[in-house]
Amino acid sequence: MSEPKKLFIKTYGCQMNVYDSERMAEAMGAEGYVMTDAAENADMVLLNTCHIREKASEKLYSDLGRLRPLKQANPDLKIGVAGCVAQAEGAEIQRRMPLVDIVVGPQAYHRLPQMVRDGGSQVDTDFPAEDKFDHLPQRKAMRGPTAFLTVQEGCDKFCAFCVVPYTRGAEVSRPVDRILREARDLIARGVREITLLGQNVNGYHGEGEGGSWTLARLIRTLAEVDGLDRIRYTTSHPNDMDDDLIAAHGDVPQLMPYLHLPVQSGSDRILKAMNRKHTRDDYLRLIDRIRAVRQDILLSSDFIVGFPSETDEDFEDTMALVRAVGFGAAYSFKYSARSGTPAAERPEVMASVADSRLQALQALVLDQQRSAQHAMVGKEVNVLYEKAGRFPGQMVGKSDHLHAVHVDDPTGQISELVRVRVLASASNSLSAVRIS
Ligand code: SAH
Ligand code: SF4
Ligand code: F3S
Repeated sequence: MSEPKKLFIKTYGCQMNVYDSERMAEAMGAEGYVMTDAAENADMVLLNTCHIREKASEKLYSDLGRLRPLKQANPDLKIGVAGCVAQAEGAEIQRRMPLVDIVVGPQAYHRLPQMVRDGGSQVDTDFPAEDKFDHLPQRKAMRGPTAFLTVQEGCDKFCAFCVVPYTRGAEVSRPVDRILREARDLIARGVREITLLGQNVNGYHGEGEGGSWTLARLIRTLAEVDGLDRIRYTTSHPNDMDDDLIAAHGDVPQLMPYLHLPVQSGSDRILKAMNRKHTRDDYLRLIDRIRAVRQDILLSSDFIVGFPSETDEDFEDTMALVRAVGFGAAYSFKYSARSGTPAAERPEVMASVADSRLQALQALVLDQQRSAQHAMVGKEVNVLYEKAGRFPGQMVGKSDHLHAVHVDDPTGQISELVRVRVLASASNSLSAVRIS
């Protein structure tokens, strides 16, 4: 028998891309491909790309340049580009880089196996009428106890800076029965923690029994499934945090006390220019309501600095909002103009100004992140083991609050959910001993 063909996938961007890469790997697995972690010995290389900022997009072309010698050495090597750059640039990618055989967008990747079978040069950036999830193989054995599950895709919010509504298309929620089936499938394969994904996951409104379901209802139903110990969801929009979802943070024990809720800016003027449709006060009041039901919840957010027309005063409003909330983590980015978005037409803030704002914000956020993590020292927390640590007798996993924890536990097994006492806090993780 001949050796199975090998597939190498590199994933850029958000968790939705991570999920899509797994599904593409499974789809190609059904064609006889096995995964490899080295591009050098692969028969097919797939780059699953991100278009969100200029730097993210440019990575694709530098990586493709690096693949050139491999393609020269092995003309049979297939090179595919998937994801959001594929959607945004389509056939242009092949014009710029003729070594690319296949370009497939995020809504068309169920057709990838057929494209590979057909051979030659192929581009598919449709938003097809059929649901790709109905044409993908069942979930396969998982590598660990945690999994992503995409429940909603696309976005209709059109923030003035963002490419997602163009690369992922209109907002679509998957039907409840398909999601529950996929969740049960994952749980049967040993998954104990599921993170529900969507570009606007809390805007979920999939068809279920009795009509359209909210994310809260979906979470409450998943919480009843035996074997599922932890539920998370990301990413949320402040305007879609409805009463029941807030309540769920107080009364669903499986829903973990961590919430990523991007605000982007603390200035009302900039929020308006961004087309965010919420004010700084709306956000702060929302945080109060969430903390009222789950006092220890850790909040994280995304920020953009240097958005067109942002003044020092606007930026100070962002810093003040961060101080007022106290985040457990936050991601801040320098504004990057993306062609096709409304903000790309506007004059930009000077790069040196944006750079120094970014530095100031990141320093503040890092400080908050460290104090939230240090505050765990001495406490008892739950950890779900995801893998063995670097040192003998050590296991690594995440706490309920999503902190990485190294645990001294010579008999520990992957997938165990254990109680530990936190002994110390290093820069990016906690260390602990097992007590149960
Ligand atoms: N769906 C998510 C956002 C996905 S993009 C949400 O609405 O929260 C992740 C983050 O990238 C955004 O929250 C934003 O902070 C940042 N981002 C998006 N477009 C950007 C741009 N043009 N320049 C800089 N950062 C951007
Ligand atoms: Fe982009 Fe805004 Fe939609 Fe998030 S809500 S994906 S930032 S357009
Ligand atoms: Fe990037 Fe597309 Fe995700 S642009 S952030 S990979 S939705």
